[in-house]
Amino acid sequence: MPFMDIETLNSELAEASPRKIIKTALEQFEHIAISFSGAEDVALIAMAHSLKKPFSVFTLDTGRLHPETYRFVDHVRQEYNLNLEFLFPDTQAVQDLVNRKGLFSFYQDGHEECCGIRKVEPLRRKLSGLDAWITGQRRDQSPDTRNDVPVVQQDATFEGRNGPLIKFNPLANWSSKDVWDYIRTMEVPYNELHDRGFVSIGCEPCTRPVLPGQHEREGRWWWEEATQKECGLHASNMITSSSAE
Ligand code: ADX
Ligand code: SF4
Repeated sequence: MPFMDIETLNSELAEASPRKIIKTALEQFEHIAISFSGAEDVALIAMAHSLKKPFSVFTLDTGRLHPETYRFVDHVRQEYNLNLEFLFPDTQAVQDLVNRKGLFSFYQDGHEECCGIRKVEPLRRKLSGLDAWITGQRRDQSPDTRNDVPVVQQDATFEGRNGPLIKFNPLANWSSKDVWDYIRTMEVPYNELHDRGFVSIGCEPCTRPVLPGQHEREGRWWWEEATQKECGLHASNMITSSSAE
């Protein structure tokens, strides 16, 4: 398959619809997967499914997701007959952390260590076998860290099978409302936590509902500074936003 360079891809896709971005990504790369968190990024899966071609999906099972999220991810797996891979953290690393510091150390010394073990390391392992990945990141998800998220980028944090790894963010230009209009119009199933005030959804101990008028990111790691609210999956956003200051 001919590989288009990132600049060409970017200029071709900058104004494209998310579905078109996903279609191009899947056509360009054989070793590519959608990273699904079990939240409104289900829209990515519905769009990919509508292309009627096989595609791969993975979920980082941190062991700390809400029961509702586990049920939802499995529901989506069945509904779309997905090739969905669950990625688990290294047993020894989780055991060492929990036995040393207990189950909630992140409230004391920040989420970096736990996220590093439960999310970042398994993700690094997975990405090392791919050439590209597709995420549900959007610019409007975080004014502090995601303002500059492009539709296509070279991943500045992780490496792929042969070195450079391409990251597609098909929803980058969409607002939360656009995503929800799509979910409702297309009757896409969604995580029941969204009916209970949860907007951005991550691990259970680190996610809470937000009040009307609060930004969705305020429901994540609420005890930490807004500029620190990246867990390492998208760490390059923090490099970009701090260098832009
Ligand atoms: S996070 O870095 O703060 O946790 P966020 O919840 O905003 O990320 O989700 C943005 C995108 O990151 C998701 O659409 C998905 O592509 C990816 N992602 C986040 N959490 C997971 C997860 N547990 N498993 C797989 N992908 C995830
Ligand atoms: Fe651990 Fe919270 Fe990060 Fe989940 S979000 S991996 S529970 S620190």
